[in-house]
Amino acid sequence: MVKVDLSGARQFFTTAGPDYAAAARAHQRLAEKNGLGYDFTGWTELPQRIKDTELDAIVATAEKIRARSQALVVIGIGGSYLGARGAIELLKPMPGKGDPRVFFMGNTLSVDALNDTIAALGDMDFDVNVISKSGTTLEPAVSFRIFRELLAKKYGDKANDHIFATTDAKRGVLKSLADKYGWPCFVVPDDVGGRFSVLSAVGLLPMAVAGIDVRKVIDAAIEELKALDLRSPENPAWQYAAARQQLYGKGYGIEILGCYEPSFRFMAEWWKQLYGESEGKDGKGIFPASVEFTADLHSMGQFIQQGPRTLMESIVRFTESRSSFPFPVEAEDADGLNYLAGRDISEVCRVAADAVREAHVSGGVPNLVIEVPKRDEEGFAALVCFFEVACAISGYMSQVNPFDQPGVEAYKKNMFRMLGKPGAK
Ligand code: PA5
Repeated sequence: MVKVDLSGARQFFTTAGPDYAAAARAHQRLAEKNGLGYDFTGWTELPQRIKDTELDAIVATAEKIRARSQALVVIGIGGSYLGARGAIELLKPMPGKGDPRVFFMGNTLSVDALNDTIAALGDMDFDVNVISKSGTTLEPAVSFRIFRELLAKKYGDKANDHIFATTDAKRGVLKSLADKYGWPCFVVPDDVGGRFSVLSAVGLLPMAVAGIDVRKVIDAAIEELKALDLRSPENPAWQYAAARQQLYGKGYGIEILGCYEPSFRFMAEWWKQLYGESEGKDGKGIFPASVEFTADLHSMGQFIQQGPRTLMESIVRFTESRSSFPFPVEAEDADGLNYLAGRDISEVCRVAADAVREAHVSGGVPNLVIEVPKRDEEGFAALVCFFEVACAISGYMSQVNPFDQPGVEAYKKNMFRMLGKPGAK
């Protein structure tokens, strides 16, 4: 299970400390499904449900794609792509031998990004996994039409065999198209919102195609969710949720999530959506931002150390590295680095992380550490479950509905009106 270390935040707490009684009430509302947005809490049972239903079909489809294609184009935006991208970049930052490349499209309206992806795809054999719960989101719909045309040019009347849809079980444009053209369909469950859907087919199919062992992910997630049901201040999800809420109450309105693994970058993007969409409403919310250490210490480090004291910092640390590299000794020591010789670079990184923590805390930045044993399938599952449960508890603690996102409609209305969509006002 994930461990949370609050020792770098304690000096910023009130004397009463984090409000675990409120965390307990929030957890109870989540577990009893009687809080705001309760009908979107199906993610709490999702891993077991997927294991009992679609998991075999997801793995079989991924194997088929891996056997025949060098690439998978995943078309989706927001919760319909960030989790898969986070997982793939975290666990498979470099595709292994025989692993298809996974391209992510439909998350932008940039024509250059579209053309660059088409160029990178070249003459590779490819499949398309289009993912949209509503089926009406403009960005993926635009990309999908274009990639359907590319498939038709490449595969002629076999093009439909290369399309896999992940969408609502019964409704929507994408579901109707899938039924019309016979594309195999996977389900975005009714009771799971996009940003909580990574452990459904939404995340699992692209992950399996990339060569991630999704059975391990799901088994670990089942165990993790059981462990996170602990009703006690020992629960790391309570600790994280209650600490953030306490710090927010004291004026720390921005949370930066950092990690010392560059491969964590898209997990941080996933986390930003999870927390930003869940908590930023009714005039409330902690603004989620992210940094990549040590790189950003040379760009954002100054601001973190001495800028306005409204930042809290949460650092994800992996206890063990996946590999090692002892730093070499050099007879002449011309670069003066022999004081590091013989130490593993992972140890140098750990020391750097401790030094940064000490500096930031003494500079007035509360520091929370979220520690995961390893950057592997189990570690990924642990992080996802931990962040999801903590997000729901934190949202309920701040009296918002953590499962809706009414604010994202505003720009869409304007855009459809300006583009002249029939019926748009
Ligand atoms: O979390 C959410 O609900 C959103 O990010 C959606 O996932 C995103 O807007 C894409 O929606 P859809 O899957 O309906 O295309």
